[in-house]
Amino acid sequence: RSKKVAACAKHYVGDGGTYMGINANNTIIDTHGLMSIHMPAYYNSIIRGVSTVMVSYSSWNGEKMHANHFLITDFLKNKLKFRGFVITDYEGIDQITSPPGVNYSYSVEAGIGAGIDMVMVPFAYTEFIDDLTYQVKNNIIPMSRIDDAVYRILRVKFTMGLFENPFADPSLAGELGSHEHREVAREAVRKSLVLLKNGKSASTPLLPLPKKAGKILVAGSHADNLGNQCGGWTITWQGEPGNNNTAGTTILSAIKSTVDPGTKVVYDEDPDSSAVDAGEYDYAVVVVGEPPYAETAGDNLNLTIPEPGPAVIQTVCESVKCVVVLISGRPLVVEPYIGAMDAFVAAWLPGSEGQGVADVLFGDYGFTGKLPRTWFRSVDQLPMNVGDEHYDPLFPFGFGLTTEARK
Ligand SMILES: *[C@@H]1O[C@H](CO)[C@@H](O)[C@H](O)[C@H]1NC(C)=O
Ligand SMILES: *[C@@H]1O[C@H](CO)[C@@H](O)[C@H](O)[C@H]1NC(C)=O
Ligand SMILES: *[C@@H]1O[C@H](CO)[C@@H](O)[C@H](O)[C@H]1NC(C)=O
Repeated sequence: RSKKVAACAKHYVGDGGTYMGINANNTIIDTHGLMSIHMPAYYNSIIRGVSTVMVSYSSWNGEKMHANHFLITDFLKNKLKFRGFVITDYEGIDQITSPPGVNYSYSVEAGIGAGIDMVMVPFAYTEFIDDLTYQVKNNIIPMSRIDDAVYRILRVKFTMGLFENPFADPSLAGELGSHEHREVAREAVRKSLVLLKNGKSASTPLLPLPKKAGKILVAGSHADNLGNQCGGWTITWQGEPGNNNTAGTTILSAIKSTVDPGTKVVYDEDPDSSAVDAGEYDYAVVVVGEPPYAETAGDNLNLTIPEPGPAVIQTVCESVKCVVVLISGRPLVVEPYIGAMDAFVAAWLPGSEGQGVADVLFGDYGFTGKLPRTWFRSVDQLPMNVGDEHYDPLFPFGFGLTTEARK
């Protein structure tokens, strides 16, 4: 039984730096910028033995990555000595031309010529095989290029043990989603949350929250919503809000099972200010954020928290001590509301195990996470990276407050 996993690093390279953050668009940056901002993750994954690298739909200074001989062959294969294979994205070579696929034989020539070894062709595979075979027979694509691709693909398959055991082992399928697996996911949630504010002043921290209280309020569109907690690429491509598709623990139910049995938990998704005033709450947990999205559907030029998120933050935090938990795939505009919050946690997309959020909010574990991205103040600062002259973030790259676990 093989326990090996062939990992894929993607999308090579610069897909996080496209113009205006538009999915699969053009990354405009000089070679030094590309190498220092976008390439380091590839050095790390190649050193650790990643088996495959997937090419990005995006372009670098106007040239499609799927046709970039310099970055795929000269740099990735020859300079970095990557020994696995290079794979396209879904119909990636089609997009070498505009409109996609308008000159498919050219796409095949340019993509294979750039150094791509495996081509993801979901539908028109007979056309692909015919074009490629024709071009090899007519010396348009040299046989040495095919040998290189075959050598690399076979090497990964041999290393994986696929020639001894060609099929996946279905006996482990029943383990998926087991308690043991969920505990690992929950631990990952605890460790990935980043505490960005704790108390209106450092001497009055709000977290960890007391488990024993009279009455507490939980509010916001993401407090009791597994689909929102999971985001895109969960069960469906774009993901879906709601609790119908995924088994797991919402943050609300995690809070309920963490607090003292005597603590009354009131859930009001979008409370009005009179209800909040009348509630006599000891504190509130506000969980807001983005709806699920993937790829182009997530393109966003304003990066604001969708309504009614900001209104819920303001309504609740103006009359009750509040911690705001933000569920999002990226930093969002929070500067206008940060002053109103007593505490602020970036929870990213924690997934199915909301208990990991309660674990750190209530001090069963400490906060340890650090920002893997710079947190901007306003979108007009973007792009903004460490070392830039205009670097003036709300929270800098690598920032994160810590708390101690309560014994
Ligand atoms: C496809 O591209 C090739 C190579 O650039 C070119 O020679 C050929 O004329 C193009 N075919 C069409 C139909 O545009
Ligand atoms: C979820 O399931 C419930 C009960 O079957 C149904 O009423 C509701 O419309 C479903 N919601 C979504 C978003 O599919
Ligand atoms: C922000 O952009 C998103 C995505 O384009 C859009 O759906 C939303 O309405 C915008 N919000 C505001 C406040 O402009």
